[in-house]
Amino acid sequence: MADRYLNFTGTAPGRFLTRRLGLPQPSALRRWSKEHPTLKGELLALRAGDEASALPDLASVLKRTNLQLAPESARPTAVVLDATGIRDTPSLALVHAELHPVVRSVAENGRVVVLGAPVSASDHHQAAAQQALEGFVRSLGKELGGGRTATLVRTRSAVGAESTLRFLLSPGSAYVSGQVIEVGEAEPAACDGDRPLSGRTALVTGAARGIGEAVAGVLAREGARVVVLDVPSAQADLVRVADRLGGTALPLDITADDAGERIASALAPGGVDILVHNAGITRDRRLANMPAERWDPVLDVNLTSVLRTTDALLTSGTLNRGGSVVATASIAGIAGNAGQTNYAASKAGIIGLVRGLAPGAFAEYGVRVNAVAPGFIETKMTAAVPLFIREAGRRMNSLGQGGLPVDVAETTAWLCSPASTAVNGQVIRVCGQSLLGS
Ligand SMILES: NC(=O)c1ccc[n+]([C@@H]2O[C@H](COP(=O)([O-])OP(=O)(O)OC[C@H]3O[C@@H](n4cnc5c(N)ncnc54)[C@H](O)[C@@H]3O)[C@@H](O)[C@H]2O)c1
Repeated sequence: MADRYLNFTGTAPGRFLTRRLGLPQPSALRRWSKEHPTLKGELLALRAGDEASALPDLASVLKRTNLQLAPESARPTAVVLDATGIRDTPSLALVHAELHPVVRSVAENGRVVVLGAPVSASDHHQAAAQQALEGFVRSLGKELGGGRTATLVRTRSAVGAESTLRFLLSPGSAYVSGQVIEVGEAEPAACDGDRPLSGRTALVTGAARGIGEAVAGVLAREGARVVVLDVPSAQADLVRVADRLGGTALPLDITADDAGERIASALAPGGVDILVHNAGITRDRRLANMPAERWDPVLDVNLTSVLRTTDALLTSGTLNRGGSVVATASIAGIAGNAGQTNYAASKAGIIGLVRGLAPGAFAEYGVRVNAVAPGFIETKMTAAVPLFIREAGRRMNSLGQGGLPVDVAETTAWLCSPASTAVNGQVIRVCGQSLLGS
């Protein structure tokens, strides 16, 4: 369903009229295209504090991005502020002093990335100061406008955070704003810079259409061999997707008792490196009107089958060491939503699964586990939402528009990349900084 309002505000009369009426002013986001695969322009690197408080290796990591490091940029495409050295609240004045003079000059569709340190459990002054950065960045994301985004990355290692910085400084992160991403210190695994997933096999569930189809497309673009799974009744669409991507179709209901074994045998002998649990359904009703027939399938498809197949593929050794699982949550699982007790329970459960499994799966199997939590994404699922609720869903975020399936797909590709070894146990909202659950 086309966003006619966004198209209208992209025209001169539309801009004039909506400004006069005080209506939202969404900007067309700059996404990946063959012609423009990277963000272009200058990168302003700032530091809150002296040289001694700088994050080691940050300068060389920033040099390797596609942006031009420019100490005096008048119109930077991106500003990266190293605030990892902030240990007390008086030092927060340095954050203001660095960003206040430049924030107005950030180019349209630009990025502000603040690097913070992990919040200390033993030093309450450091904890207060570093937590303050979260409120700061989330507020800035709401102020920037013009398709600009703001993100906080908590890290102790610029090298560990390199793939995350590259993602945030790329068109792929156009719909990711107001987020806090925690990155560990693990060294990135070696991979081809242009096609980081080459030589890898990816299984994407619910890939006959919508977000799953886009995820399979971006993973294939990044070099992965894709196996796409969907219910047997969607086989025609599934085969079309597989053929287009040079992959394999696996028609299968993910809730089948033997789904894990059937997937494992379809992926033998090489196993799988990337497992994307995207299949999902809604059966909305308020709890008072919701029979078990609407509750059970939602929990089964969205949550229990994800647990069951992940366990089966991990324990059977089908998920290769160095691999990655990405499950699909939703902002409904964070904020809750009237009429979606079943759906929100299932999606909150996904967040629990990620937090509960990530450290152990990495330690025991060398597999990372993360989640994407989409906000309002333009798909058949959201096209079925009544008009006024749909329009509210589209506008109630800092970017004033719905996301596209490709936004979730790009985020998934970053999480799955071997370069993202230090990203584990994260739930990344792809929601344009939705007001819900923020
Ligand atoms: N669209 C949004 O705004 C949005 C927001 C938050 C989360 N999500 C989540 O993103 C995921 C994809 O959403 P979408 O909008 O593309 O939905 P969609 O309905 O367009 O696609 C979902 C796909 O999953 C498949 N599927 C359903 N049950 C299955 C089963 N038992 N076995 C195998 N495949 C099955 C469907 O056939 C369909 O092809 C879902 O998990 C959804 O909950 C979507």
